[in-house]
Amino acid sequence: MRILVVGGGAREDALSWRLAASASCEALFHAPGNAGTAARGTNWPDVSATDVRTIVRRAKEEKIDLVVLGPETAIAAGAGDKCRDAGIAVFGPNRSGGRLETSKVFAKRFMERHGIPTARFRVVHNIDQAKRVLDDWRGGAVVKADGLAAGKGVVVCDDAASALALLTDWYARNAIPGGGHDVVIEERLSGREVSVFAIADGRAMVPVAAACDYKRAGDDDKGPNTGGMGAYSPPAGFPDDLFDVVRERVVAPALRGLLAEGEEYRGVLYCGLMQTARGPYVIEFNARFGDPETQVLMPRVNGDFARYLKSAADGALQIDAATWSEDACAGVVLATSRYPYENTKVTGLPADLGLPEDVVAFWGTSTRENGTVSSPGGRVLTVAARGTDVAAARARAYDAIGELKKRFPPGTPLAYRGDIARL
Ligand code: AMP
Ligand code: GLY
Repeated sequence: MRILVVGGGAREDALSWRLAASASCEALFHAPGNAGTAARGTNWPDVSATDVRTIVRRAKEEKIDLVVLGPETAIAAGAGDKCRDAGIAVFGPNRSGGRLETSKVFAKRFMERHGIPTARFRVVHNIDQAKRVLDDWRGGAVVKADGLAAGKGVVVCDDAASALALLTDWYARNAIPGGGHDVVIEERLSGREVSVFAIADGRAMVPVAAACDYKRAGDDDKGPNTGGMGAYSPPAGFPDDLFDVVRERVVAPALRGLLAEGEEYRGVLYCGLMQTARGPYVIEFNARFGDPETQVLMPRVNGDFARYLKSAADGALQIDAATWSEDACAGVVLATSRYPYENTKVTGLPADLGLPEDVVAFWGTSTRENGTVSSPGGRVLTVAARGTDVAAARARAYDAIGELKKRFPPGTPLAYRGDIARL
């Protein structure tokens, strides 16, 4: 099978790495790809993940059998729709299915329509409505801009007054993240967070794996929100029947809802959950794999992952094509030291990292030339290690980072959290 992975971050490097190791994968292409994917297939560095027209044209030229959509931006740009229109199998939903991620208002109303547990919420379009909603609000409030805002559209507020101050500023400056007007205001829940990934072929949807990620820049969840500084899988400290409960309360009604609304959803549904006293509540849906969760999920996959994704894309999921190992995996993100405020370009990193067999590193946005890697900065590398349990995997990951740092040019400005997967 000839496979095109759309995207160029560490998530796509991890998907590509696992696909390359699949029996049914003959050739791999990446749009645009990065320094890691360049080593195992063809990169199309001039084709961005949202350049749908070029993606379809080149996929036809290269006789691609399966397109795997990495980022939500590709889904929102209609890459799924257009590749399917051209007769190419796609792992990833159409733009309309992607609204579960790309529109917070759509997602909340979908959950309400289909009885999926989620925080109580109201939708407002302007500051007067926001004032009315917040007038008799008790407790914490979470403010969520409707559109795709690259992680900047959600603000957790301690009380109604701070939510109102935020919304007053947003509306006054006409500066709602994502550029729209609609905002969800919802009840602030408390509990531990876990991400459950369900694979869907349009008719069936099966929760298959779970992970925990770390969103804040600093240890002990201090500092600003980021795209994610690390993750581990499987999650520890959740009820043993988490999957069964999620299947029954979230995945099954989501599938019924999608079918009832005429949506043939093929791809992965990422259920971002909070384990509350009343069981798991959906904080968010994403229409794609997580980053950095994918970097810790892929090392746990056995079997023919390419056939697994292709079967879902074809509408006939072969759930046994891939299995998930009992081993744990911990992944630590190395980011440039001013991230997320500023990206610092780094050059001269060794492309061959010389890692031991149970450790793998996935590159973020980057290019490779003459054995060295350049990165525009931000999240440069995810180092993921396997172990018999989370503690063992965590120790291996940090040992490997210690060794790795000796191989980087002196003064390379990389920072990472020290508490990833510390249980
Ligand atoms: P989202 O972009 O929807 O994933 O939200 C980002 C983060 O905000 C989540 O990972 C949670 O930590 C937090 N969050 C979102 N919604 C809620 C909520 N209703 N209650 C508490 N925290 C929330
Ligand atoms: N790790 C969070 C996300 O991928 O959205």
